[in-house]
Amino acid sequence: MIEKGQLPALRAHGAVFEGREFAFTNRDFRRIAEIFREDAGIALPEIKAPLVYSRLVKRLRTLGLETFKRYCAFVESEEGAAEREHMIAALTTNITRFFREPHHFEHLKYKVLPSLVEGVRRGNPLRIWSAGCSSGEEPYSIALTVLSAIPDAERLDVKILATDINKDVLTAGHQGVYPESAIAQLSRQQRADWFTPSRDAGREKVWRAGEALRALVSFRELNLMGEWPMKQSYQAIFCRNVAIYFEDKAQTLIWHRLAGLLTPGGCLYVGHSERVNGATEKFRLDGCTTYRLAEGTSG
Ligand SMILES: C[S@@+](CC[C@H](N)C(=O)[O-])C[C@H]1O[C@@H](n2cnc3c(N)ncnc32)[C@H](O)[C@@H]1O
Repeated sequence: MIEKGQLPALRAHGAVFEGREFAFTNRDFRRIAEIFREDAGIALPEIKAPLVYSRLVKRLRTLGLETFKRYCAFVESEEGAAEREHMIAALTTNITRFFREPHHFEHLKYKVLPSLVEGVRRGNPLRIWSAGCSSGEEPYSIALTVLSAIPDAERLDVKILATDINKDVLTAGHQGVYPESAIAQLSRQQRADWFTPSRDAGREKVWRAGEALRALVSFRELNLMGEWPMKQSYQAIFCRNVAIYFEDKAQTLIWHRLAGLLTPGGCLYVGHSERVNGATEKFRLDGCTTYRLAEGTSG
């Protein structure tokens, strides 16, 4: 693996990796970083060059391309549109887990849902959005939290929207199949009530989110940098560990746009190291990395 301090010296040769299986020059890196910034809003500092190489090398092998220069040209061409999506998917970070940052789910359960349950039982809609949902652990954790307060949510007007830029993670989320280790945080009761045990192709024990759980969550492709089709508002939005990868201006824009989609007093949950910088006037803090839409704010 290339060391951080070596990069400038190698750049003088115009090659980030010389002598590797595929030629990868600094120019190639800059082209890829520019596409990624344009499409996903995510900045790639030069220190990420080794990561870019290791994540994309499989794509070059699959396509039978010999250099990153050719790969860049393909991705930038009209025929390369589908590959551009593969590239974005390969470069995004999808780490997630069930009930990550559990205090957000406690907040949802004890500070948001209680005042809504009665209205939902009378037919009012309950809408929650997991923006940057990865492979589904976050929206299913939201669904499990909702079910703990409203066990018959499936029969009411309750919907959890789960969106991501990466089609592969959306497919995984839609299937809702997780290894036993991934659902270790769930109680026995939650597993028994809402998951079905089964075996994967390698005969490992896996758990599939049951029909009632899956029915609450809709997975959709959505680039947070692009147009947002939704017209309705949400009582809660989880946008955690997503905007942290965006440039400052893009982050501020996202917080403003999310504020515009919250119901009065609605909640925005962000990642543990994120803050709603540039949009603080829209929110008031209501717990650790938990923001309520400020009174008199309509987004
Ligand atoms: C680190 S994961 C976080 C998953 C989950 N929110 C959590 O906190 O566990 C970040 C997710 O954001 C998605 N993402 C990155 N850029 C995006 C964009 N421009 N639009 C939508 N999703 C994006 C990635 O594909 C990835 O699945």
